[in-house]
Amino acid sequence: MTNSSPEHSAVAIRAAFLRSVPEVRRHVREVRAQGGQIALVPTMGALHDGHLALVRSSAARGEHVIVSVFVNPAQFAPHEDLDRYPRQESADIALALDAGARAIFAPTAADVYPDGFATTIEVGGPSRGFEGALRPNHFAGVATVVAKLLLIVRPDRLVLGQKDAQQVAVVRQMLRDLNLDDIDLVVHPIVREDDGVAMSSRNRYLNPDQRRAARAMPASLRAAQHEIDAGETDAQRIAAAARRVLEEAVGVRPEYAAVVDPDTFSPLAQLDGPAVLCVAARVGPTRLLDNAVLIPT
Ligand code: PAJ
Repeated sequence: MTNSSPEHSAVAIRAAFLRSVPEVRRHVREVRAQGGQIALVPTMGALHDGHLALVRSSAARGEHVIVSVFVNPAQFAPHEDLDRYPRQESADIALALDAGARAIFAPTAADVYPDGFATTIEVGGPSRGFEGALRPNHFAGVATVVAKLLLIVRPDRLVLGQKDAQQVAVVRQMLRDLNLDDIDLVVHPIVREDDGVAMSSRNRYLNPDQRRAARAMPASLRAAQHEIDAGETDAQRIAAAARRVLEEAVGVRPEYAAVVDPDTFSPLAQLDGPAVLCVAARVGPTRLLDNAVLIPT
């Protein structure tokens, strides 16, 4: 499972662990020479079934899946959880390969952000509200690292999870604005635990009481869909139904519940087209996000 010399390229293509940018470029050249289609699944590691579903679905389409594992310091604010963010590189390698990944790219922070690094990609539009308002610089950090990964790997396909709906909107905007729109963006639906809670690396911060309280997140989405099923089309009232569930849940501090346009992330007044209901709350010190694509009746 090491990256090997050109005469062993078939082995390298079967499963490669890539640490440096030149190793990635060599690997990608070999895959392209054999006509492979490359899908990039960017992650921050601590892989769970949510991440692995993205890998599995691309692998099932016959794509050569490269999983990047990089806890990106640029998208964390100084007071956030960068230092305690879970890191488990060898487990991640095994999990990704088992799910069908053909290569893992795990660069060092010094390689991604060498001394003197001075470029940031600021996406306006969908970056502004919600997560962007609560976490200044977060989406600039995400956009910058995703752009770098795309330029290093140059995949045919970029695979993201709907779990981070605003991140999807920001990356979509960036692909369009930077003429990276020949990369096909694939968005995988949210993968949930049996009790409905969206899988997240941050769920492991929750103690058992907090983990139970987290069920209010999917419950809030169900309450909103219930209003819609009963004929409600006023976006504020739909969002309010979700917020009420979060407010009533013990140990949950709601941050926002809003119905937005999935591309611009602007709040909507009426449910009369594509819409996403986004909710964010703190459970203990942990911030949780969830969302649902709304289906008008
Ligand atoms: P991370 O939180 O590790 O997530 C990596 C990818 O997995 C993202 O596209 C995310 O939306 C997706 N994902 C996580 N949990 C999911 C779930 N329960 N169901 C479906 N998809 C899920 O998002 C990031 O990393 C970073 O911001 C990154 C894009 C890697 C840039 O640093």
